[in-house]
Amino acid sequence: MERRNFFKLLSMAWGAVILLPGRLLAQTEKAAAPASSGAPGTGADGTVKLPEYAKEMRDSDMLGLGPDGKPTGQKATFTGASKANAKAEEAMRHKMKLTKEEQAVLDGKDGEEKAKLMKILVAFGNTFGAEKLVDLGGAPHSNMFIGAEYMKSMIKMLDKCAKAGLKSYAPYTVNPRPYDVYNVQNNPKDMTMIYEGYKLQWDLDYVHVRLGAPDLNYRTCACYLDEIGNAPEPGTYVAWAESSAVNYGNSVLGIRTNRNGAGMDLIQAMLGKAPLFGLMTDEGRMAKWLVEVKTTKEPDWGAIGTAIGRKCVEDVPYVTGLDKYFKDGKVTADNLHLLKAMGSATASSGAVGLYHVEGVTPDAKQKGKKLLAKGYKTYVIDDKEQARIISTFPNLWPKKNADPTAAFIGCPHNTYYEVIKWGKLVTEALDKAGKKKAAIPVYMFMPNTVRARAIEEQGELVSKMKRAGMHATNMCSVSYGGMKGFSERVRGVTNSAKTRNYTSIRYFPDDVLVKIIVTGKIPKGA
Ligand code: F3S
Repeated sequence: MERRNFFKLLSMAWGAVILLPGRLLAQTEKAAAPASSGAPGTGADGTVKLPEYAKEMRDSDMLGLGPDGKPTGQKATFTGASKANAKAEEAMRHKMKLTKEEQAVLDGKDGEEKAKLMKILVAFGNTFGAEKLVDLGGAPHSNMFIGAEYMKSMIKMLDKCAKAGLKSYAPYTVNPRPYDVYNVQNNPKDMTMIYEGYKLQWDLDYVHVRLGAPDLNYRTCACYLDEIGNAPEPGTYVAWAESSAVNYGNSVLGIRTNRNGAGMDLIQAMLGKAPLFGLMTDEGRMAKWLVEVKTTKEPDWGAIGTAIGRKCVEDVPYVTGLDKYFKDGKVTADNLHLLKAMGSATASSGAVGLYHVEGVTPDAKQKGKKLLAKGYKTYVIDDKEQARIISTFPNLWPKKNADPTAAFIGCPHNTYYEVIKWGKLVTEALDKAGKKKAAIPVYMFMPNTVRARAIEEQGELVSKMKRAGMHATNMCSVSYGGMKGFSERVRGVTNSAKTRNYTSIRYFPDDVLVKIIVTGKIPKGA
């Protein structure tokens, strides 16, 4: 998780590099040479030298370069904006139009801290060619959830804002915490690592309390679930961060937000404004890809999401062939997990911040194929292509043929429907096998409010799940999978393409995963 979040944090910086042709790009190229001194600094010719510690972070899979170092033809801006080919010089010269009120805030009318936030926001908007700021509605969602040292400056800045009495314009939701010392990492070794690694967690949680987040029972990446209630009306401008939430919100709810980096969500929340560009505009929501899903059976949602993310990178896809899985074209509490699985995979294997599903998602229902941009490209996912994508998922376990040791379900967080479905699938399969306990622990990731509903409405099943070795936890799955030494200690299995993308945990379809959980073995040929 740290790596992922780190890249999110860096996204603006990398985005800026990509947007900067000419002189600065040349500087970047020179900077790519190994740093000799190990210390950051500027060379005599004005080039920036990367510090030793940063050399591993110089390249990211979102830089538009293939493993061979050659351009793939894709350029990402990390905002989901369609400004990838903007010229830096133009972007830097650009000036948004501010209202008198906005200008007054910038000039300090509401105090020094708010003026600083406005300065950051205006620079952000200018960089991406926004024409103006728009008022936000609904409620923000923040992915500021890691209280690690590298977040120190951001946490300090937010603390200053809280001390100055600033608050989000509406109560907002926040991603899950990166650990759970009650249900998952309740052992001295993990706890030591956590308390040493997340030294600023308390400070960060305290910031959220003061800026307007609810209590920890509401922590989740699936903020749009009924049990959380952050689901603004279609067309609402909001400031969300967290790739899977942005992706779901833009696509399934029809809200309008860019893929904000950590911290930019809260800056916009405190100002109640966001620069209008990218996925917030009609132009930015046009699809550059027509993706035709032609699998003979229900697709593997994580696999097709991965396929789309790899192909489209950050472009918007218009997907056909999926409406038959949504009765009357409706996304409900019982089927939203399908789009959650597909969308989060598009956002983690690529940087897709919005997709349209023909006959299902709000923009597509309203405009249909008119959403296809001029010159769009077509990508067909049939059985063969789906199988090809799955065949590219590597086995990253150090002991490749050893047995699995734990299962991870719920990234993004499980819905109530999924919790009950998995409870039944596992306990019924155990009954059938004459067993009371799963062969490996099963971690079920969900917000506390979903767990509370399950206990209330399905108490007997929940007790059975607990006895079977299924643990409910409200932490982030990838944060666990990203812990130091995890891959040496744990051989994980999951049905989340997103978790697979970021960890050494292996991906299996639901039916195979059930067998693994019951037997503790990977079925032959799986
Ligand atoms: Fe949620 Fe963590 Fe996965 S924030 S989407 S469980 S990476």
